Amino acid sequence: KRIAIFASGSGSNAQKIMEHFKYSSDAEVAIVLSNNPEAYVLQRADNFEIPTHIFDRHEFYYTDSVVELLKRLNIDLVVLAGFLWLVPQNLLTAFPNKIINIHPALLPKFGGKGMYGDHVHKAVMAAGEEEHGITIHFVNENFDEGEIIYQAKFKIEPGDTLEQIKFKGQQLEHQHYPKVIENLLKKYNH
Ligand code: GRF
Repeated sequence: KRIAIFASGSGSNAQKIMEHFKYSSDAEVAIVLSNNPEAYVLQRADNFEIPTHIFDRHEFYYTDSVVELLKRLNIDLVVLAGFLWLVPQNLLTAFPNKIINIHPALLPKFGGKGMYGDHVHKAVMAAGEEEHGITIHFVNENFDEGEIIYQAKFKIEPGDTLEQIKFKGQQLEHQHYPKVIENLLKKYNH
């Protein structure tokens, strides 16, 4: 099984996924794609000797070149890991129920446009939530709205800072995303 990762930034989740599948005989990360030529995730992919592809807005939204690339590589699952652009219809149509995303909050709360990075954790703190967590979900044409596949939660302790809740969430993401991907890929065998 072949995985494509889309990421716009640091790529700490991509890192964990590339590590997880490095020695797997069942699945591999075949390519890392980014809209951001400066994204640190590209360096991480190089370190694993995984090919990369950088695209711009025109290529992504007004051509089929990314879809064609993924088809040519026989990609089975598209994994968004800190990818900040909306997925266009041609990609959704080419990979039905084969595109997943991770979001650093318990959807359906704290999702949608502008809800990324620290904005999410600030909103959670401001709302006085007692618990927080992560969501892994299928991707549709809207931000953070597809069917939920998996959630993991933790309690927000009185006095927790933004940095602390962010860190706890990241730990959960790193722990669970590779395993959820592995389990999804197993289902595709049947
Ligand atoms: C993660 O918190 C993820 O939930 C969100 O973007 C962040 C990406 O972090 N979609 P990284 O680039 O994997 O470090």
